[in-house]
Amino acid sequence: MAERAGVIASWRNRPNAPPVVPGLPIIGNLHQLKEKKPHQTFTKWSELYGPIYTIRTGASSVVVLNSTEVAKEAMIAKFSSISTRKLSKALSVLTRDKSMVATSDYGDFHKMVKRYVMSSMLGTSAQKLFRATRDMMVNNMLRTFHKLVTNDPHNPLIFRDVFKDELFRLSLIQSLGEDVGSVYVDEFGRDISKEEIFEVLVHDMMMCAIEADWRDYFPYLSWVPNKSFETKVFTTEARRNAVVRALINKQKERIARGEARMSYLDFLLKENTELTDDQLMILMSESILASADTVLVTTEWAMYEIANNPDKQERLHQEIREVCGDEAVTEEHLPRLPYLNAVFHETLRRHSPVPVLPPRFVHEDTTLAGYDVPTGTEMMINVYGCHMDDKVWDSPEDWLPERFLGGGFEAADRYKTMAFGAGKRTCAGSLQAVHIACVAIARFVQEFEWRLRDGDEGKEDTMQFTALKLHPLHVHLKPRGRM
Ligand code: HEM
Repeated sequence: MAERAGVIASWRNRPNAPPVVPGLPIIGNLHQLKEKKPHQTFTKWSELYGPIYTIRTGASSVVVLNSTEVAKEAMIAKFSSISTRKLSKALSVLTRDKSMVATSDYGDFHKMVKRYVMSSMLGTSAQKLFRATRDMMVNNMLRTFHKLVTNDPHNPLIFRDVFKDELFRLSLIQSLGEDVGSVYVDEFGRDISKEEIFEVLVHDMMMCAIEADWRDYFPYLSWVPNKSFETKVFTTEARRNAVVRALINKQKERIARGEARMSYLDFLLKENTELTDDQLMILMSESILASADTVLVTTEWAMYEIANNPDKQERLHQEIREVCGDEAVTEEHLPRLPYLNAVFHETLRRHSPVPVLPPRFVHEDTTLAGYDVPTGTEMMINVYGCHMDDKVWDSPEDWLPERFLGGGFEAADRYKTMAFGAGKRTCAGSLQAVHIACVAIARFVQEFEWRLRDGDEGKEDTMQFTALKLHPLHVHLKPRGRM
């Protein structure tokens, strides 16, 4: 508490602090952030106060960064002063005090677990081992689309239902080594289905991660109970723990029978004795969650834009026809499909799945964009704001893949936008995201003509922690027939 008071005092006394967004006494700017979409409010404020400013959320001062230039300065040039995470109470509970790759502070533990996840699942070599699983996933989706269209040609289909199931299958296979259909959970006293596993490990976690506890904003009142918040977070955590433990135990039995497979869990059990059971459980939970959501968000937005822009759909289809002819698109074709690459990156820019990066903490005095930023400041990077900056992007509101063709962009560069973060904490799964999303988008367009359900144009609201489409995409698909 003394340290926190010191931080606020040092802010007041600094003549060279970033501009301050005016707020109310005690609560600061909290009342202006009531909706769970701070990225839009942050972006509006950046028009008035510039790319870097300070807000107050209760007792804490938070520096908000809204341009690619200053965000990169913080994430790359000043990383050594800003490498720790600042977690909300909900996230501290759900990640067991920073035991996930994404939520741990930069240091030996983070380097070790990031190396594990890259070597066993997400790095270039590991990705080659899961190629057949990714191909199966896309083939299954196409088969289901064909079946749905044949059975009911006039009604639109719900894209998310099909994609979500297959992505979750991939996520289970990569993380655990098995496409688990059901599992017995001791604490529940019954078998639970795959749908319920998804609810507990993905859906409930996403909803709980955005739970706000007012004590986050007034740490000096941490001793005051907040019963409804605690019940929700601790119940979600306990259910998650029970299910992940049951899944791990089931796989341990398989391994004990001598059936080793290729998976993150098999790798961790074989390679490492340093992780505690709790850490193992948290890492499994992270990998299932991380692979099951963001790629769905991106691909759903890409297909929405493609269905909404027939001329761009035609351009993409033509590129695919010219490069692949009669062959189904594969990962080997990707370097020769620049428009597809542009569609993917423009979707990441316009509809970033992570609009505000997980908050960071300044742990030694530093400067950003020439302003002083003292130790103890919290920092938010508004990726959405970086991508809506009209000094960098022409007509930023428009979805224009053409902006990524030629010019200053390297085709193979996965970090053309801030969507995957930057520097040492950059996304571990960006290669997997490219592999799945790009091949899926290309094959969907290769096999079908896409049209939005009438009246769905412009439905671009988002929900959840990631920028999931609020209105699930409903589409009419017309098989194109073989070329
Ligand atoms: C389009 C898809 C994806 C997007 C837009 C995305 C975005 C991000 C972002 C913004 C971060 C935080 C970077 C930061 O704080 O600086 C991150 C971190 C991370 N992502 Fe992704 N992600 C995607 C897919 C995936 C997938 C498929 C996985 C794994 C299966 C994954 C695993 C991770 C991990 C482990 C981290 C933590 C890295 C670290 O802290 O060093 N991501 N991702």
